[in-house]
Amino acid sequence: MSRKKWWQTAVFYQIYPRSFADGNADGIGDFEGMLEKVDYLKWLGVDAVWLSPHFASPQVDWGYDVSDYYQIAPEYGTMDQFLQFMEELHRRDIRLVLDLVLNHTSDQHPWFLESRSGLDNPKRDWYIWKPPRNDGPPNDWFSTFGGSAWTFDPQTGEYYYHFFFPQQPDLNWRNPEVKQAMFDVARYWLNLGVDGFRLDAVGTIFERDGHPDHATGDHLDAIYRDSRLAKTKAEQRKANRRWQRMFRHQVDMPEVHDLMRELRQVVNEYPEKVLIGETEDVRFYGDGEDELHLNFNFPLMRTDRLTPRWVRLNQRERLSQMPPDAWPCNTLNNHDAGRMMSQFGDGKHDLQIAQVNLALLLTLKGTPFLYNGEEIGMVNHLGLKVEDFRDPLSLHAYRLEVELLGCSPQEAERFAIEYGRDKCRTPVQWANQPNAGFCPADVKPWLPVHPNYAEGINVRDQQEDPGSMLNYYRRLLHLRKNTPALMEGDYQPLDENNRHVFTFLRRTKNQICLVALNMKARPAKTVFPYWLKNLRCVFSTHRKEGQLERAGFLTLQPFEVWIGVVESF
Ligand code: GLC
Ligand code: CA
Repeated sequence: MSRKKWWQTAVFYQIYPRSFADGNADGIGDFEGMLEKVDYLKWLGVDAVWLSPHFASPQVDWGYDVSDYYQIAPEYGTMDQFLQFMEELHRRDIRLVLDLVLNHTSDQHPWFLESRSGLDNPKRDWYIWKPPRNDGPPNDWFSTFGGSAWTFDPQTGEYYYHFFFPQQPDLNWRNPEVKQAMFDVARYWLNLGVDGFRLDAVGTIFERDGHPDHATGDHLDAIYRDSRLAKTKAEQRKANRRWQRMFRHQVDMPEVHDLMRELRQVVNEYPEKVLIGETEDVRFYGDGEDELHLNFNFPLMRTDRLTPRWVRLNQRERLSQMPPDAWPCNTLNNHDAGRMMSQFGDGKHDLQIAQVNLALLLTLKGTPFLYNGEEIGMVNHLGLKVEDFRDPLSLHAYRLEVELLGCSPQEAERFAIEYGRDKCRTPVQWANQPNAGFCPADVKPWLPVHPNYAEGINVRDQQEDPGSMLNYYRRLLHLRKNTPALMEGDYQPLDENNRHVFTFLRRTKNQICLVALNMKARPAKTVFPYWLKNLRCVFSTHRKEGQLERAGFLTLQPFEVWIGVVESF
């Protein structure tokens, strides 16, 4: 019997509801569509779904601006459909985790409408209001999405604070009523039976008391420009450091950890629930038991190429920083970052590289998170036009490109696509038919479909092709499920000076698994200690499974994935 919790052994699959599947033919994904795909998720072999926000929302930031935490966005369906979706998942042993946005609400949320209605309104203090300073904003803080972090409200003559878009006012978490209201929201969904929450932007929940100026004299647009024009990694890092300094009073305040401990207590009222932080800060693990169960290892993704050296260093740092009993959590893409096929490829071997990278994700110690569409090898949609942009961040970048950098409209479009998030949010490609089967032919999808659905990048064609990316995902997911050491084992790097092959062990008391990933485009050898001699191959991209390796080394083909289990030890 496994002693690990379900969220430690599970593979999560992120559904971005607007782009997943359109069931009622209006060009927008919905619960009807999701319901039709439940069997697909089971067939694929994932164990849990993280659903990006499905709450009522004016959809300025596509659901991350919630106007009612107790309602389903009408374009996504009804509460009954939500419950049915959850029930169908549970019936297939798939868990459901919701996306809880704590830092801010929509500016259309009744709490904010009340709060802004008058200085004496009982909800005034639910948000962060301040009088003007010298006829301008209360301090020099920026919104991470551009412009001042303060928006003036003429009705009461004060400014409100927003870390993100002006339509996303920050809640005042120093007010105990806010905390109670949000804990009620969490309990409401837990009572309905959801299995936990992914916590949006947890680092931004508190601001420095007294709101002191960052006083760097720097401007966010200047950081954008310098980072965009950076020629070296060092220049890029310098721009990042400037960003850190500018936002140092706005993120990762110590108070947030008290709040996380309280929220953990709320969740502990229910058995077996999970909290996953959208943060890479290991402090959110608390002592390993008292804050969040999982926090993303985002540093792993922050490279153009996943190399053995990069991964080893990442693992060494990450695992040593974490509290002893805390469990890692790895991902290679999501609805904010670009798609992994586009991010880590070399332009020549993108498919093979993606296969190696998936093997990495599913064999590293920790809970893996997949993002819908990656299993068929969907790529960033770089063919979008300005008229297609739906992410306000893409439009913001477009303006900066034109006004700040003096780019031509074509150039501005190109860079804005890269900077914005629309490129990785286009509809999931289900079949080789108009609109990729996401919605009917005569309906316009909310974001354009990538045309490569017609070249095999779609679910139906790949289901029928045993050599497809989709079937590769499925095989590897099933292998993981049947190999306890891959789900639960310790991590031990081997052959640590090898620049081509990343070799490591995952081991439990009863099983030792050796993983060797050739991350380079040439054949390469990896060697390991003498006692690892009876290795039975359980998975390889290049050779027959079942073969016994006794030599103490392996010579791998370019981009070969090799996984073996020690026969006797
Ligand atoms: C998180 C979400 C992102 C959103 C932001 C503000 O980073 O992943 O999509 O824009 O929070 O809610
Ligand atoms: Ca729809």
